[in-house]
Amino acid sequence: MTGAGYTLKAFVAALREISASAADAHEILERVKPLARQLAASADLHARLNRQCDEAQGFGFQLLHEEPDHTLCVAALSWLPGRGTPPHDHGTWGVVVGVEGDEVNTFWLRTDDRSQPGHAAIEKLQEKVFPPGAVIVLMPDIIHSVRNDGDEISVSLHVYGKNINFTGRSQFDPERRSVVPWIVRQN
Ligand SMILES: [Fe+2]
Repeated sequence: MTGAGYTLKAFVAALREISASAADAHEILERVKPLARQLAASADLHARLNRQCDEAQGFGFQLLHEEPDHTLCVAALSWLPGRGTPPHDHGTWGVVVGVEGDEVNTFWLRTDDRSQPGHAAIEKLQEKVFPPGAVIVLMPDIIHSVRNDGDEISVSLHVYGKNINFTGRSQFDPERRSVVPWIVRQN
């Protein structure tokens, strides 16, 4: 089943099949992308959304599925108006689809030689607005930051090869030129 009648259950079954048969992360991203778009538009996903935001971190992370070893993570993120994330990577492949409201994505390039622990220099590459239905595919070391410039909570669907709290991923501070681990609160 596709489109509005697509379900989280069918999506997870497809994720298992794709991750078991795909040759590499690029193939996984290409195959997951259209299915994630269908799930983002589905009645099943919309019925599950809690739109809960964590005031302290600026967004809420609603875990919808992960395997017992934290792989194949599906989550709905709800973003408070005027809030967002620091620049970060994911340490795993990712597919993000807009569900409600626009989200601004800024992409960054790491320019230091990674020789000094805790030190990182990053430069802004480009900024792009992603409306509902737009898809972003992320390789594990891509660095981006997300912002909700709208007046209402925005929601996006996130699919990761592994729950990002278990990949050892990082957040970056471009002014202080630092890199530190990043764990997010999840509900
Ligand atoms: Fe991200």
